[in-house]
Amino acid sequence: MAGGRRAAGLALRWGCCLLLCCAAASSLEVSMPAVVEAEIGGTARIECNFYTPGNGSYTSISWFYMDRNNRVRLCRIAGSEILEENVDYKGRLSLGEDQALSISKVTVQDARTFVCQVGEGSHIMGENQTRLHVYKVPEAPEIVPSSGGASVQSSEIPEIARCVSRNSFPPPNITWHKNGEQLQPEDNMVKMPFTLTRESSGLYTVSSTLFAHVTREDRNSLFHCSVHYWLRGQRRTADSRRVNITVFYPAEHVKLQVVPSSALVKEGDDVQLVCEADGNPAPVFSFFKRGLDDIWHDLSSLADTNSGVLNLHDVNKSSSGLYRCQTLDLDDMRQLEKDVELVVNYIEGVRVKMEPPSPLQEGDSVRLSCNAHSPLSLDYQWRDEKGRKVAEGNQLFLSNLTFETSSNFSCKVMAPSVPGLEQSKQVAVAVQGKPRIVAISSPLYVRQDEVVNLTCKAIAFPRPSVHWNVNGTAHEYVENQHIASNLTVRVNHDLLRAGAMCRVSNALGVSEKHIQLLVESIRKDQKIPQSKGVIIVAIIVCILVVAVLGAVIYFLHKKGKIPCGRAGKQDITRPEAHKDKIVVEVKSDKLSEEAGLLQGANGEKRSAADQSEKYIDLRN
Ligand SMILES: *[C@@H]1O[C@H](CO)[C@@H](O)[C@H](O)[C@H]1NC(C)=O
Ligand SMILES: *[C@@H]1O[C@H](CO)[C@@H](O)[C@H](O)[C@H]1NC(C)=O
Ligand SMILES: *[C@@H]1O[C@H](CO)[C@@H](O)[C@H](O)[C@H]1NC(C)=O
Ligand SMILES: *[C@@H]1O[C@H](CO)[C@@H](O)[C@H](O)[C@H]1NC(C)=O
Ligand SMILES: *[C@@H]1O[C@H](CO)[C@@H](O)[C@H](O)[C@H]1NC(C)=O
Ligand SMILES: *[C@@H]1O[C@H](CO)[C@@H](O)[C@H](O)[C@H]1NC(C)=O
Ligand SMILES: *[C@@H]1O[C@H](CO)[C@@H](O)[C@H](O)[C@H]1NC(C)=O
Ligand SMILES: *[C@@H]1O[C@H](CO)[C@@H](O)[C@H](O)[C@H]1NC(C)=O
Ligand SMILES: *[C@@H]1O[C@H](CO)[C@@H](O)[C@H](O)[C@H]1NC(C)=O
Ligand SMILES: *[C@@H]1O[C@H](CO)[C@@H](O)[C@H](O)[C@H]1NC(C)=O
Repeated sequence: MAGGRRAAGLALRWGCCLLLCCAAASSLEVSMPAVVEAEIGGTARIECNFYTPGNGSYTSISWFYMDRNNRVRLCRIAGSEILEENVDYKGRLSLGEDQALSISKVTVQDARTFVCQVGEGSHIMGENQTRLHVYKVPEAPEIVPSSGGASVQSSEIPEIARCVSRNSFPPPNITWHKNGEQLQPEDNMVKMPFTLTRESSGLYTVSSTLFAHVTREDRNSLFHCSVHYWLRGQRRTADSRRVNITVFYPAEHVKLQVVPSSALVKEGDDVQLVCEADGNPAPVFSFFKRGLDDIWHDLSSLADTNSGVLNLHDVNKSSSGLYRCQTLDLDDMRQLEKDVELVVNYIEGVRVKMEPPSPLQEGDSVRLSCNAHSPLSLDYQWRDEKGRKVAEGNQLFLSNLTFETSSNFSCKVMAPSVPGLEQSKQVAVAVQGKPRIVAISSPLYVRQDEVVNLTCKAIAFPRPSVHWNVNGTAHEYVENQHIASNLTVRVNHDLLRAGAMCRVSNALGVSEKHIQLLVESIRKDQKIPQSKGVIIVAIIVCILVVAVLGAVIYFLHKKGKIPCGRAGKQDITRPEAHKDKIVVEVKSDKLSEEAGLLQGANGEKRSAADQSEKYIDLRN
């Protein structure tokens, strides 16, 4: 059959050739392009050019198409009219001014050879033919990555992705690419079966599925597919988007670390032990701690076994030790493990030793020594109760203690290598003793029946109590370490005569001081500044006295009787009134502050008071 057909075709071609020779002989050359390409759905324009000398209006043009080896008439052209249209092409043909034939709404079936025959009457003068190629550019390929992911350990070749490109003509090819490089099929490693579907429209849909073994590195690989087609003699390519796929692989390494870094963990910190495995999906984590008995104790109940984090809250010395993280891969039941040593830095047993031990007296000295236990080297600092740093080093020497220095000191112990690690211990340096009256409102200048405050201020430890020997309203108040009492009284005769006594006492003793009340008029004589008139009178009196004295001396001199100096000295003896004013007795002579306060209170220097007392004693 096939041989017969070939023979027939050969005969026809010969016949054709003969015909063409005759046509050529009839001296009309028809010029047509060998190939015309048209997109499906578009319009194909086939030119047919010839030249006839003389009157061309007698020329007739006939178009045929080849169906297998038969010529089928398409149409006949007369002038610029299309006659005898083929049924299949009805309404799709049109003629250009240059006699070119246009076929609209090109279909797949139009991919055939068209013949343009030029004749005069029944005489064929010449012909030529054009092959019409039709095409349809494929739609951009769509890629769908395998939803299940691919396992490194899979025994079958896992599916990576599917690729589809629809509605093209002729059918294109599909290629697969990983990270931009084309993949080739390999036995038992890479497969890419291709399917071709002819749609009812005559267009083709092509698809391909990529199967390939993956490695753990492929978790970062990007895959895409490309369709390749011809367009006007050129090879064209359209790429799909790039996709990554989920790759499953077992853990190979496990890492266990202390967060924050283990060198800096201190007591009281919240610490995390973070376990990481490089498998996908993450394995199941278990945590253990090695006990003193070398047995591993399961801590998984304290951990998040999915994320691999063990939270240790408020760690202490006993949290130190060796910890283990164990991973279990649920695919192959393989176990991996890793250990880490947790070191919790600490300071403990902070103690302050006092030498000599309390109770301390005023004027004593004391040495405070601070000690603590820690595996780290320690720094010591001393702070007073206001938090001010008073010394460095583990010893603090306090001398000349007074009630005023009586204070709480704290020893602060720090480990410089671990920021924030510190402990402190407070110690009370209590100076005990009998009360000391530091201020008294004596002498107090008053008026009869005036309401005045008698003030008495003292310091002591333990806290003293204040008593008055006169009736009145007492108010006590505490100021720093001092205790003060205001006694509000009305000045009467008895008070002016006897004064008042402030008595301050605690378990260790009693101190008393007397308050003298003086009537305001006395103070006026002593204190109110003299007027200019008084000064002038005084000067005049002085001049008169000097004049009289001079006269007397002169008179005595003349008589030669000048008295001895001894009698003059006796005249300078302290007046009794002045002596009475010194009512405050201060026995402790080491307390300068008290002296200062008392100066303001009674207007007399204490040293003067002491001396006067001694002087009085000598006289008695
Ligand atoms: C057909 O037309 C082409 C282009 O003009 C020309 O090269 C060729 O020789 C023609 N063939 C015949 C048989 O006339
Ligand atoms: C061509 O023939 C037509 C009649 O068919 C005539 O009218 C016309 O003049 C002729 N033209 C030439 C150039 O001979
Ligand atoms: C498709 O593949 C075939 C066979 O490998 C090849 O001959 C053809 O040229 C390809 N087509 C395109 C458009 O690449
Ligand atoms: C693909 O890569 C992106 C970004 O790297 C990532 O977020 C995504 O989870 C990956 N998808 C898969 C299926 O692995
Ligand atoms: C240390 O911490 C553990 C666990 O929180 C606790 O049981 C223990 O009493 C703590 N030890 C000390 C000395 O605080
Ligand atoms: C302690 O007090 C005495 C007497 O007031 C004084 O002499 C001595 O210098 C003081 N010592 C210190 C260390 O202040
Ligand atoms: C000293 O410390 C004790 C407790 O240790 C406290 O009761 C007292 O108020 C503190 N004294 C001062 C002055 O801070
Ligand atoms: C106590 O009395 C004195 C003298 O009158 C006065 O200056 C002082 O303010 C009084 N103290 C208080 C706390 O009222
Ligand atoms: C006397 O003391 C009382 C209580 O301390 C106080 O309220 C009053 O103001 C004082 N009087 C004078 C005159 O200072
Ligand atoms: C104080 O008052 C009481 C009663 O009010 C009285 O008995 C007592 O004698 C008074 N004491 C003095 C010192 O005035």
